[in-house]
Amino acid sequence: EVLLPFGLQNQVDAYLKAHLSRKSMNKERFPRSSSCSNLTTDGGLHEQKEPLTPRSVVAEGILRRKSLQLHNKQEDWQESSEGQKMQEFRRSLPAYKERDALLDVISQNQVVVVSGETGCGKTTQLPQYILESEIDAARGAACNIICTQPRRISAMAVAERVAAERGEKLGESVGYKVRLEGMKGRDTRLLFCTTGILLRRLLVDRNLKGVTHVIVDEIHERGMNEDFLLIVLKELLPRRPELRLILMSATLNAELFSSYFGAAPMIHIPGFTYPVRSHFLENILEMTGHRLSPFNQIDNYGQEKMWKMQKQALRKRKSQITSAVEDALEAADFMEYSPRTQESLSCWIPDSIGFNLIELVLCHICRKERPGAILVFMTGWDDINSLKNQLQAHPLLGDPSKVLLLACHGSMASSEQRLIFDNPEDGIRKIVLATNMAETSITINDVVFVVDCGKAKETSYDALNNTPCLLPSWISKASARQRRGRAGRVQPGECYHLYPRCVYEAFADYQLPELLRTPLQSLCLQIKSLKLGSISEFLSSALQPPEPLSVQNAMEYLKIIGALDEDENLTVLGQNLSMLPVEPKLGKMLILGAIFNCLNPIMTVVAGLSVRDPFLMPFDKKDLAGSAKAQLSARDYSDHLALVRAYEGWKDAERHQSGCEYCWRNFLSAQTLKAMDSLRKQFFFLLKDTGLVDSMESCNAWSHDEHFIRAIICAGLFPGICSVVKKEKSMQLKTMEDGPVLLYSNSVNAQEPKIPYPWLVFNEKVKVNSVFLRDSTAVSDSVVLLFGGNVSRGGLDGHLKMLQGYLEFFMKPALAVTYLSLKRELEELIQNK
Ligand code: CDP
Ligand code: MG
Repeated sequence: EVLLPFGLQNQVDAYLKAHLSRKSMNKERFPRSSSCSNLTTDGGLHEQKEPLTPRSVVAEGILRRKSLQLHNKQEDWQESSEGQKMQEFRRSLPAYKERDALLDVISQNQVVVVSGETGCGKTTQLPQYILESEIDAARGAACNIICTQPRRISAMAVAERVAAERGEKLGESVGYKVRLEGMKGRDTRLLFCTTGILLRRLLVDRNLKGVTHVIVDEIHERGMNEDFLLIVLKELLPRRPELRLILMSATLNAELFSSYFGAAPMIHIPGFTYPVRSHFLENILEMTGHRLSPFNQIDNYGQEKMWKMQKQALRKRKSQITSAVEDALEAADFMEYSPRTQESLSCWIPDSIGFNLIELVLCHICRKERPGAILVFMTGWDDINSLKNQLQAHPLLGDPSKVLLLACHGSMASSEQRLIFDNPEDGIRKIVLATNMAETSITINDVVFVVDCGKAKETSYDALNNTPCLLPSWISKASARQRRGRAGRVQPGECYHLYPRCVYEAFADYQLPELLRTPLQSLCLQIKSLKLGSISEFLSSALQPPEPLSVQNAMEYLKIIGALDEDENLTVLGQNLSMLPVEPKLGKMLILGAIFNCLNPIMTVVAGLSVRDPFLMPFDKKDLAGSAKAQLSARDYSDHLALVRAYEGWKDAERHQSGCEYCWRNFLSAQTLKAMDSLRKQFFFLLKDTGLVDSMESCNAWSHDEHFIRAIICAGLFPGICSVVKKEKSMQLKTMEDGPVLLYSNSVNAQEPKIPYPWLVFNEKVKVNSVFLRDSTAVSDSVVLLFGGNVSRGGLDGHLKMLQGYLEFFMKPALAVTYLSLKRELEELIQNK
């Protein structure tokens, strides 16, 4: 019993090895049932059957017949009246004029870069042109096009649109695949998927067998996955000379991508949009009869410190500060800033001006402006939600049936998103509150008014302190232009920027690529499991390589959690982690939950941490919501256990048809709980796929033991650990890297005057002005001693040394001594055996 936890890593490795071999045996005997074939570790993208390749005359005959069928079906549709209307619309798009040129260049070059104004028809048309031309050439059944999207919502929306344009249902020739959902049939020839899904397929199918075209969309966003995919594809191209790669981007930095692929040809689709008038804050205030306070009254607005940080960030971007920029920065001082300023929703407009976003939308645009939809760019899901609630309850709203208020963000349900594209009836004002995803990847046609808050939530990464930061930060000039452009789709539009022009002038031209501003752990793990050689060498061939220190930190982290050994080889745990579509630490938690038979609650914790927090904190009912959460936590000092109870309570209530009421009473989001529910199912299938679990019953013997669950949470989250130092009336929290840290106010532990445990383990820390810990669970010394870290690292001695270091750092030498004596006892035990 003592040996097991001490040898945790070795045990886990041995266990995984045994199961891996069992899995390969199982596979031969029991072919996978079709019902769960889309839940395989590669996200279901990997073809189970051999793709159709014309090997023999017979096969060729079949292919021809299938292609002909496809061809005839399209002809029938195009002749129908609806089909004709659709054809007419498609021909009106700017991309149509370039159709032949595009197809020509693609057929003659392995890599092509296509750019064009948003809405010109890149995403919906270009993949279709390829499909159609292949069908016309009687190769339709043999072609296999994959088009990646950075976000799940756009993959789904685009697939649905393209299927509709072809008069088909989803899952016929057009399908989609995202992390939790998919619609793909035997005859699907054009698949829209997230970039992550394609990367996962590459794990098991390095040559993308059977794929004829890969289209990487929205590359200008420079997401980490896209940058990574480009390195992998660049290496793959020489091995697959017939494979075609098409890169698509909205803004005009096509040259960068073209030169990355050895001067690949570029095609630009000239677009057409109506003119859009820009109104900066000073104009808006003037227009609405408000007065701009003089800049020298900044101090009254408080939060100055926050603003200074923001200014520093701006300064860093502009390495050469010209005096004009300096002036702009000074002028910009009057903007209030706080991390959760949405509470006042003045959107960085000082309260004293007596004017805010709500008034702009409800009084100015809704009442005085011409008809047309309003698109409001906000920073994230929580402020969208909060603004939505405030608008709904606002006295100025008037007749609620005359307003169609919609939200649009990356994690919304698919049923909700369809409404965004629908045109409302006459006399109804559509208002869409969106994150920056509405900037380029989706097009809402009837937008005439855009409100731009000027910020987007951007993760950045402080490699020196190894701390991720999540700050709403100023967008780039390119983004602001792009947001403005969304207003001119169907008629001339108006764009309201809620910041002064001088602030705009100080924006960076483009946003920093994600690869340079996020921790690289998952990426490094993927590089390792794809056997792409030395990580630093591999990453040095990126479009813009990340800092060596970031790579080093990520590698060190992977060693600490036991995914890599000291020689940077993937361990068995690492191999398993790379197959799970969650962060390494959460994957480790799942695997340990399965091995240690407390899978149910651990799946809930991991699902909650990888979707988002189901606990709602409406700004005007914070206290009520807080106490509801505290009640669920039952004073056991753990946000994660509160999450488990909330989920289980909801499941229970669902069984009695009172799920909604339960959510209402406990301030929970039913939508998030549902998402967690389906994620849990997916986890279970994945673990089953790896052979780690057989049935739900067999892996839950310890699921009701809270001590045990805490221990597994600690094993997953370590080294995310902070010590709790009791002071006379309060307590102080401290981590090794940051010193004193604080808890987010919605953590159950933040409400506790004293936590009777010496440690908190946490999932996430974020630097805002101070370092904040998000969700945490209190754990005892013995849990940290036994479950913290990776024992195989440098053997028992190495493990002890590391923990000793931790303990001494946190001034717990007494514990270190206990630990050493425990170690001695243990060694004796081993020798006597
Ligand atoms: O990718 P790109 O921004 O160039 O344009 P797209 O997404 O292919 O959209 C082309 C046009 O299709 C848009 O201008 C919309 O008018 C229309 N569209 C639509 O009506 N419904 C959708 N779900 C997607 C696009
Ligand atoms: Mg597009």
